Amino acid sequence: MNNQLQNNLPLQQKELMFQNRLLKVYKHKSKQAKRLNIECWRIYDHDLPEFPFCIELYGNKVYVAEYLRRHGMTDEEHEQWLENCITIICNILNLPNENAFIKQRKRMHHRSQQYEKLATEKEYFTVTENGLKFLVNLTDYLDTGLFLDHRTTRQMVKEQCNNKHVLNLFAYTGSFSVYAAAGNAASVTTVDLSKTYLQWAEDNFKLNEFKGDKKYQFIHADVKQYLKTLNPNSFDLVVMDPPTFSNSKRMKDILDIQQDHVELINDVMNILSPNGVLYFSTNYTKFVLDVDNIKATSIKDITKATTSFDFEGKLKRWCFKINK
Ligand SMILES: C[S@@+](CC[C@H](N)C(=O)[O-])C[C@H]1O[C@@H](n2cnc3c(N)ncnc32)[C@H](O)[C@@H]1O
Repeated sequence: MNNQLQNNLPLQQKELMFQNRLLKVYKHKSKQAKRLNIECWRIYDHDLPEFPFCIELYGNKVYVAEYLRRHGMTDEEHEQWLENCITIICNILNLPNENAFIKQRKRMHHRSQQYEKLATEKEYFTVTENGLKFLVNLTDYLDTGLFLDHRTTRQMVKEQCNNKHVLNLFAYTGSFSVYAAAGNAASVTTVDLSKTYLQWAEDNFKLNEFKGDKKYQFIHADVKQYLKTLNPNSFDLVVMDPPTFSNSKRMKDILDIQQDHVELINDVMNILSPNGVLYFSTNYTKFVLDVDNIKATSIKDITKATTSFDFEGKLKRWCFKINK
């Protein structure tokens, strides 16, 4: 903690509680992050209901998402409260306040809204994870470009890619694809419906100096339709991490993961090589895998095995390893 903490604001009782809580978790988790040599990690997620933040560190920048709720403050009071909170956060992290990037997120039922653009500051910067580089943007989108909850899954995938043909579906900025390339995949195909994210994925490949037009392909398509165009035996390892819901204009019909997962997973099973494997993940909290209707030889819930130190007890997503 830096000494600014003692000489700053006349904190309210509740803000003091927030400060103490954050200090405690930061002290504990930063030791683990340091030990694991991790510079991007989640510090706090809604630990205290009255401080509904998600706080993540990206190198020397801090991303603070405030979940919107009825707080009963006037706009001025809320602005002051938020400013106090940012000062508390930055003091504890020993960062200047200008290194904090604040987003206000609604609790969204339809994740389709999640991918809207917020600003156009184009402030991209590079972070490192397990020796690989990724472009992050904390100003222009609701999400940052790197989903931290899959850090362990990415490493797991990398370790199994040697000489394999890898397909990354709903790839976003291609972080799984970068890991696959680093894991010596024979080829990596990255598919997303957003041209912006596909370009971001290509930029992440360039940043890591992975070159090869044939070996690394970036495909702008609706996954539902794209899967139907592939032949059996096309890929050895597939990563599929779809949104809970999607209804982009560019799609033929909507995507609802609870309703559509059996078809999607079975379509992947059809295009996998005989010993192929699918890593399937979903953020839908109430998700139930329809095991009986999936045509696989084995299904393993790897949610726990893919949960890293900064998400323990807080993870709201599922992950399965499904063998053809
Ligand atoms: C949850 S993110 C995937 C996160 C990614 N696997 C990662 O770990 O970085 C969902 C992505 O799906 C894309 N998407 C949504 N609907 C799609 C569709 N029908 N076909 C292809 N991509 C789609 C979005 O553009 C977004 O990039």
